[in-house]
Amino acid sequence: MKIKSAEFETSATSIAQAPRLAQPEIALIGRSNVGKSSLINLLTEQRDLARVSDLPGKTRLMNFYSINRNWRLVDLPGYGYAKVSKTDRADFNEAAAAYLTGRTQLRAVLVLIDSRLEPQPIDLALLEWLVETAVTFAVVFTKTDKQSVSQTQTNVARFRAVALDGLDPAPAIILSSAKTKAGRTEILRYIASRL
Ligand code: GTP
Ligand code: MG
Repeated sequence: MKIKSAEFETSATSIAQAPRLAQPEIALIGRSNVGKSSLINLLTEQRDLARVSDLPGKTRLMNFYSINRNWRLVDLPGYGYAKVSKTDRADFNEAAAAYLTGRTQLRAVLVLIDSRLEPQPIDLALLEWLVETAVTFAVVFTKTDKQSVSQTQTNVARFRAVALDGLDPAPAIILSSAKTKAGRTEILRYIASRL
């Protein structure tokens, strides 16, 4: 898929404020600082479309980006810091949970996982919740440039065994780096398959 245009459309604190025009949407979710905004900039080939920050938890809103004027990327608030839901189902923002369960034009979720880390309980809880809720997702491992290929492979294999074993259908798994641009084509291909 070619990205011909990418524009910030709106921010929302709840789905009541989300764009009305029913275009298909692909959402990104993941821990604060995992690289959601960087991935949006990578996919759209724009340096500053989504705000990238070293300070975790900067993106507290749902941000809607209009792509090719006919579908959207949705940057959901990062989880894992102070802002968490009160339920014990999953430790992420309530607006994101409402979006994931209630947004009818949602076609798939990209779940971003830091390729450098051991499986994190909060990520496992999110995946379990997505499976329970029957949301279609792909797992995108970020920041693969920060370590050796073999270390990435070890971490991905461990994550697979702990979090993705036995899932039917098996979710797509994509390795990416906003720095080297690895994974861009694969992610766009996955998105195209879901739109
Ligand atoms: P929140 O909005 O706070 O939830 O964070 P986010 O998930 O949007 O992360 P963001 O894209 O802002 O990136 C966080 C930090 O990680 C920034 O300093 C980025 O430059 C860095 N970063 C993101 N992706 C990569 C990557 O693939 N490689 C490297 N080396 N750094 C990355
Ligand atoms: Mg962000």
